[in-house]
Amino acid sequence: MLERFGHGGDLLTAQEAFGGTAADFLDFSSNMNPLGPPQAVLAVIQDYARIITAYPDPASRRLIAKLASLHGVPEESVLIGNGAAELIDLIIRVKQPKAAAVPAPSFIEYSDAVHKAGGQVWNVPLLEEEQFAFNERAADSVEARPSLWIFGSPNNPTGRRVEPALIRRLLDDGHTVVLDEAFIDFMPDGEAATLIKEAAVHERLTVLRSMTKFYAVPGIRLGYAIAHPDVVRGMRWLQVPWSVNSLAQAIGEAALEDSGFAERTLEWLAAERPYLAEQLGRLGLRVYPGEANYILFSLPTETGLTAGDLQRAMGRKGVLIRDASLFAGLGSQYCRVAVKLRRDNDRLLAALQACLASDTGKAGAGLEVK
Ligand SMILES: Cc1ncc(COP(=O)(O)O)c(C=O)c1O
Repeated sequence: MLERFGHGGDLLTAQEAFGGTAADFLDFSSNMNPLGPPQAVLAVIQDYARIITAYPDPASRRLIAKLASLHGVPEESVLIGNGAAELIDLIIRVKQPKAAAVPAPSFIEYSDAVHKAGGQVWNVPLLEEEQFAFNERAADSVEARPSLWIFGSPNNPTGRRVEPALIRRLLDDGHTVVLDEAFIDFMPDGEAATLIKEAAVHERLTVLRSMTKFYAVPGIRLGYAIAHPDVVRGMRWLQVPWSVNSLAQAIGEAALEDSGFAERTLEWLAAERPYLAEQLGRLGLRVYPGEANYILFSLPTETGLTAGDLQRAMGRKGVLIRDASLFAGLGSQYCRVAVKLRRDNDRLLAALQACLASDTGKAGAGLEVK
């Protein structure tokens, strides 16, 4: 199992399982923008030696000023974090929910954060026959009153958005909502769909953003939260001092300068997502609709293959895919793959075709391609 630490993108575990070096693997198990990082970010890294001898700005002021101006929100409503992962943890510790409703499937860290803070998680099933949409039925399926709802929009691993109208309804009914928009930059209408402006002034709505996926810098931990200034103060109070290092801050500032990068990314995804989804379907896989830079699919039961079997067989071919059965609410036949550049997507498709055609689960352990 490549998700030994709960997530995709673990190249060291892949090397332990299949042999070879990190460079031998094409990684579809984590969802990074293949166009990145932007040139401006690479220039910052070359310059980094100059800034490591001083402490980082403890308040990430320059990056906050840029983000506040970009989104048209007050600076007091923005907090920078060591990845969206840190901000999930901080907002849950601030809110201390006794019970939180979490759609299943969704990003595993939501439930983990609630449990770590001593709360109970109520899984709200998203249904395969509804293509994993979060809808009125799901919103109404929680009879008792959770103190908090946590959503990903687009959701991971489904890639489906949560309609703003449903979020507003929950807020109007007195619920508190944490909305993780880690992948929203990949949606063509992300700027129109975001609830950032509302989060800046609403005490019960917090929006979380990641900069690691869109700008392809997951090794640099960087994300931000937009919330009411009182909530931001509470999160900052719990945050470790200098949690966001100076390289991350400088990279965040540089990435925001490159507006052409966002345009190029949306153009690439508009062409490549439908292509990959269609080709996966042609291989006989059941592909679910979504809007992010990754695709959820399931293996037909006739193949007798599990996601774990397929992951092992693909790993031996040097291609890493995500075993999505580890997400609450998904069975053993679910997989998730990132969308990459055409040549890599074609390599993924060729490897999948070969694995689906052979008695894949029982083959030996070593890496076939080096
Ligand atoms: C939905 C979702 N939110 C947040 C994160 C964490 O992002 P970051 O790298 O900014 O900590 C991830 C990482 O995979 C994710 O999938």
